[in-house]
This record gives sequence, structure tokens and C-alpha cells, in this order.
Amino acid sequence: MNAMPTYRIAPSILSADFARLGEEVRNVVIAGADIIHFDVMDNHYVPNLTIGPLVCEAIRPHVQVPIDVHLMVKPVDRIVPDFAKAGANIISFHPEASEHVDRTLQLIHDNGCKAGLVFNPATPLHYLEHVMDKLDLILLMSVNPGFGGQSFIPETLKKIAAVRKLIDQSGRDIMLEVDGGIKIENIAQVARAGADTFVAGSAIFGKADYKTVIDAMREELAKA
Ligand code: DX5
Ligand code: ZN
Repeated sequence: MNAMPTYRIAPSILSADFARLGEEVRNVVIAGADIIHFDVMDNHYVPNLTIGPLVCEAIRPHVQVPIDVHLMVKPVDRIVPDFAKAGANIISFHPEASEHVDRTLQLIHDNGCKAGLVFNPATPLHYLEHVMDKLDLILLMSVNPGFGGQSFIPETLKKIAAVRKLIDQSGRDIMLEVDGGIKIENIAQVARAGADTFVAGSAIFGKADYKTVIDAMREELAKA
């Protein structure tokens, strides 16, 4: 029998109260979050504008868990060292947003962070073919990036299964994270498809009691 995989819950602070961000990240970690997911949008690569390195630096002293920076920006390279200095632990980017994907992965590592590639619902997986050995994380979008609170796109389940196979074949320790529309009701299905790391924004920060939601998600994962 296979050992139960290590599941990680990564609340996205996109749905947190930005006026009280320090308190929000502390509370969500106390409630059981494993990772803080930090969505960076530039009103260019995606049609929304959010937070940058200064905010990452501001929340860094409030929590010990890894900060997982999801860059939805184009171009990518200029901003990478700023996030590393601001205390990011993982930096991921969309391959369409970088002219030189391999170079950007190298740049993230050179700055002391783990590196990830992010795939939109319609982005093919062929970008993975020649860079598996440089990845620490693969992030599959289960919504189109830009906004919280959208519905999970079911087609993603097949993609998760395909990436799980590629990771297992590679024999490398690569996190498989899924982002968008994850809730208590569907997290087990996403885990069964092969994901191990679950981003949830509105499902957690949209509720008054974060611990109740995270506990319920873990119960679902235990059954998956
Ligand atoms: C969307 C972001 C997500 C977002 C998820 O572009 O990358 O991280 O916060 O929000 P929910 O969980 O509400 O779909
Ligand atoms: Zn995200």
C-alpha cells in the first residue's frame, strides 16, 4: 500500500483583508495553513493589479511558513530578485510570460528560492519537457488567472493526472500545486487526481473561522 502523500494547504491572501494583512496571515497559520500563497498581478499579463515585494517584505516577519509567490506578471526576470530579498521561499511564473524559461528558472535558484512553472487551463504541458530537472513546483491553474472566487474547471483533473505521471517518472521531489476554485467539496477529488498542494483563497478567507475550513479540508484529504 502506498504511504499517504504529504498534503499542504496554501491559503491565497488575495481574498484576505488587505487592511489587516499581518493579522490575517498570522491567523491563517494558527488555523493550520502550511504555506502562504501570494498572488502578484500586474494589469498586463492578467487584467488585475495586486501586491508586490514591499507587501511580501511586510508580512514576512509575521509567519514562519514558506511564502509561495505566484507571479502573474510579464516580463518576469526584473522582479525576481526583489521577491527573493523580500523573503519569498518559492517563486513560480507562467512560461508564456518569460522569453527564456530556462534562464528564469536559473535566476530564481540563483536568488536562493525554489522555482515553479504555472500552467493556465489552456496552456499545454510541453513546456515541461526540457526543464523537469530545474523544477521544485508545478502549479496548475484550475481557473483563468486574475481573480479569486471563480469556479473550478473540471478539465484540470486530467491535466493533474498527466503531470502526476510525469513527476513520478522523473523520480524528482516536485510539488504539484493546484490553484483556483478549490473548496471543501472538491479538494478530495483534486487530491485523488494527484495534487499534493492546494491553494484556496475565497474558500478560507471568505469564512469567519479559518480553522473550521482548514480542518474540514484535511478531513476530506484523509479520505481521498
Ligand atoms: C487566481 C489566483 C488564485 C486565487 C484563488 O488568479 O492565482 O490564487 O486567489 O482564489 P479562489 O481560491 O477563490 O479561487
Ligand atoms: Zn495563485
